[in-house]
Order: sequence, then structure tokens, then C-alpha cells
Amino acid sequence: MKNIGVVGCGLMGAGIAEVAARADLDVLVVESTPEAAAAGRERLAGSLRRAEAKGRIADAAAVLDRVRVVTDLDALADREIVIEAIVEDEGAKVRLLSALDAIVTAPDAIFASNTSSIPVTRLAAATSRPSHVVGLHFFNPVPVLSLVELAPTLLTDPDVTERARAFGEALGKHVIVSKDRSGFVVNALLVPFLLSAIRMVESGFASPEDIDEGMVRGCAHPQGPLALADLIGLDTTKAVAESLYEEFKEPLYAPPPLLSRMVEAGLLGRKSGRGFYRYDQGRA
Ligand code: NAI
Repeated sequence: MKNIGVVGCGLMGAGIAEVAARADLDVLVVESTPEAAAAGRERLAGSLRRAEAKGRIADAAAVLDRVRVVTDLDALADREIVIEAIVEDEGAKVRLLSALDAIVTAPDAIFASNTSSIPVTRLAAATSRPSHVVGLHFFNPVPVLSLVELAPTLLTDPDVTERARAFGEALGKHVIVSKDRSGFVVNALLVPFLLSAIRMVESGFASPEDIDEGMVRGCAHPQGPLALADLIGLDTTKAVAESLYEEFKEPLYAPPPLLSRMVEAGLLGRKSGRGFYRYDQGRA
């Protein structure tokens, strides 16, 4: 594949666009507003500048040249694969997939969703070509974490699954395969752990700092669960938990009230400058 499209240039979309551009692909990213497009492009440019400063890439400007960030969905017509990375909202994703179905012209084009928890089959049903829809779930920060979960649905064409796997590998990722179950492998295991840590804070069991230190020093985790929830975004964490709860109906997936209150208060973690911790630089 040479021409790829990404919809959404937030934390994940910008990261996916970056790794694709670093793999020499032509990348077209669509955002919802000019302001969001400018912010997304700056997020991507900042990440590339940091990668250049650390010697991970030779020329940030050359990589950035391979990325266009626009607001016109119709510009995606010629793409061979489009990865959606918009908000974790089923209605918004269904509307987007349905619109993309009408726009993207190549009959063998792939529609991939970066959803963390919404069953891919429901998104596929919004299109006239469910055989070409697949889950392709990257991890945050995308340029750093080497995993992609590939989730074909019952309707995905095996050739589409294999091409999506090859695409993930071409971006330098290790691909694991999951059935189309809410949360796939990693979030189905991770989210109950994050929610348990939030319940510990809520009940006064221990402080956020001590909970995180406990898991970093006691279990060699690279960061504690509350710092990780802040990094993921508390709104995204809550949305993922709600989808898992809806799918499995198990209390361990139910978002605790403290998480809901923090989201309602706009305390979204790193991206808003405050979550379980404070971040002076604002959005990461
Ligand atoms: P985010 O809130 O940082 O970015 C979402 C972006 O999508 C925003 O910039 C927004 O302006 C844009 N957007 C919303 N509706 C749009 C539309 N109709 N057309 C074009 N752009 C639109 O969210 P984030 O964290 O990047 O998450 C995106 C997706 O990736 C979600 O499905 C989430 O579950 C998934 N994900 C998130 C991870 C994380 O650690 N945050 C990890 C893996 C997957």
C-alpha cells in the first residue's frame, strides 16, 4: 500500500499518521475543523521534532512533507486503506463509516477502525462492504509501542485480514490477532486493572502516588495504572469501560463514580492538563 488515509488527528490519529509517514507512505489525515486540523498537525510536527532530536529519524521535515491534514472527507476517495481514529463514540463512528463507504472508490480499499472497545461488526454493518472492514488497534504512544491488534469480524474477507496484517507489519508493528470482542485482548485485561486502581483512590485505600509506585516498584510496570489512565485520557478510559461493560455485563468493567465525575469535571488526564496528576504543559 502507498496511499493511506487517517480520520481524526488526536492522540492516536496523529501517531498513526506519523508511523505511516515514517514508513514512506503518502498520508492524508482528515479532521473535523480547521482548528483541530492545525492542532493535529502541530502535535504530529512536535512528535517528529522530538524524534529527530533523539536521533530516531534523520529529517523530521521530510517525513512531515508526506502528511497532509485537511478537513474534507471527500479527499479520501483514492485511498487504499482508511483508518478511523475519531472519538470512541459508536454513533459518530457509524456515521463516519457510512460516509466513507460512499466516498472511497477503490473496490478493494480497506476500512480499519482503531476503536478500543466498540465491536467492529457494528461499524462494518454501516457500510455496503462489511467484508472490507477490520479492527486495527494501535497503542499509545503509537511511535513508541510496537503492538497492533488485528480484529477481523465474522464477515471480513481473509484476504483483507492478510493485507491489514501486512500493512501493520510494514509500519514496523508486531501484529496479534483477536476475535471481534469488546476490548480485544489487551484492553479486556488492562481496563479492569485501571478501574480497580481508580476504585482504590475512590475508597481512600491508598494515594494515587502510592498505588502507582506500588505497581512500578513491586511489579516492574513502566508506569502505574493512574498515570497510565491519565495518558490514555480519562474520557477514553470511561468510554472503553462502558463498552466492555455493555458487552460482558460484568461489574469489574463498570466505570466507578469517581471516573465519571472526573470526566464530567473536565479532568481528562494529560490532554486537559489535569487528571489524577497535574501536567503543567497542558495537552501532551
Ligand atoms: P482524541 O480525542 O485525542 O482524538 C480524536 C480526534 O478525532 C479529535 O482530534 C477530534 O477532533 C477528531 N474527530 C472527532 N470526530 C471526527 C470526525 N467526524 N471527523 C474527523 N475527525 C473527528 O482521541 P484518541 O485518544 O486519539 O482516540 C481515538 C480513537 O482511538 C478512539 O476510538 C479510542 O478508543 C482509540 N484508542 C485510543 C487510545 C488511547 O490511549 N487514547 C489507545 C488505542 C485506541
